[in-house]
Amino acid sequence: MNQNLQQQTQSLPQLKDNENSQIKIGDVTLKSCVMLAPMAGITDLPYRQLIRRFSSNSLLTTEMISSEMLMQNRKDGNKILENLENEFPLSYQISGHKPHMMATAAKKLMDLERKPSIIDINMGCPVRKVVCGGDGSALMRTPQIACDIVKAVKDAVDIPVTVKFRLGYTVSEINFKEFASLMQESGADAMTIHCRTRSQMYSGVADWQAIAGIKKYISVPVYANGDITSPQKAKECLEITGVDGIAIGRGTLGSPDLIHRIEHYLLTGELIEEADIQTKIKWAKEHIDAEVALRGEKNAIPFMRKFYPYYIKGVQNAAATRGTLMSATDYKTIIDELDKISQMF
Ligand SMILES: Cc1cc2nc3c(=O)[nH]c(=O)nc-3n(C[C@H](O)[C@H](O)[C@H](O)COP(=O)(O)O)c2cc1C
Repeated sequence: MNQNLQQQTQSLPQLKDNENSQIKIGDVTLKSCVMLAPMAGITDLPYRQLIRRFSSNSLLTTEMISSEMLMQNRKDGNKILENLENEFPLSYQISGHKPHMMATAAKKLMDLERKPSIIDINMGCPVRKVVCGGDGSALMRTPQIACDIVKAVKDAVDIPVTVKFRLGYTVSEINFKEFASLMQESGADAMTIHCRTRSQMYSGVADWQAIAGIKKYISVPVYANGDITSPQKAKECLEITGVDGIAIGRGTLGSPDLIHRIEHYLLTGELIEEADIQTKIKWAKEHIDAEVALRGEKNAIPFMRKFYPYYIKGVQNAAATRGTLMSATDYKTIIDELDKISQMF
């Protein structure tokens, strides 16, 4: 740890012990209060493996899996369902708006060789195509259907069921308080709240303050989510909201060790320095290799493009490099370019 970071650490209040870090969701005990937030097209098996390498206790989450796709037994669904033993505790997130279909989808997941630890229900996705079908955050406008989904999924499986939603649909429809109570009454074992409305999509700043006080009336674990990008922000978010845990999404891009660094900081008050560029490039290469192994080179090369800007963030004059990485169509060009950057430092 460098001198600067050490000084910052000493001026911050220290946690007494790890009393705040255990969370019980139904009969699943988590030894960490930090979880990976689900991200479609991101939190696949290779990505979760990268996170797990650093954090052995955090709750990991799959990408959103459409209940309709699960019903159709589509071939492209197989990859999204794959898991490895070391990933557990692992939550599978499903989406949809038909209670019976969601229940059947959840049951199907129970047939996996290694069944989920938890089923999470997506009630927060803001994407137009999703909400137009009545799924994702559209469910915040149809709370009765949302309740029926939770009850149906609870009846269908014998593992904990959680929900993830937003503050409301629009700023004039903020209903997370009533919604959270309804979810709890319907049997939800925990909930994650992305502190934005649907109409904000991902813009503006997540309003952690909005959910402060929620633990006065919600007894199941609550996770705060949105804009937690550093150990200090994680602590600040927990302090402001007073909730049980935090879910981290985009902050992990290019920083698969972030959840570990947060966990360490919450437990010890010590900051672990962010990785240098060589290390990040090493992670990027390992990520590519794992995606090639999962999807084959043809699919993995375009799939990986969204990740490069994060792995090479902070590289001076990175435009040309980024251009090469984004346009490359073969594995060797990408690895050579990454090696070139690594050697510059
Ligand atoms: C690319 C991308 C994909 C996402 N996919 C999902 C998803 O499948 N299910 C879900 O509940 N939320 C999804 N989210 C939302 C995140 O889980 C999280 O709520 C949001 O990004 C705010 O948290 P953050 O600031 O830590 O990223 C997605 C977000 C991004 C950026």
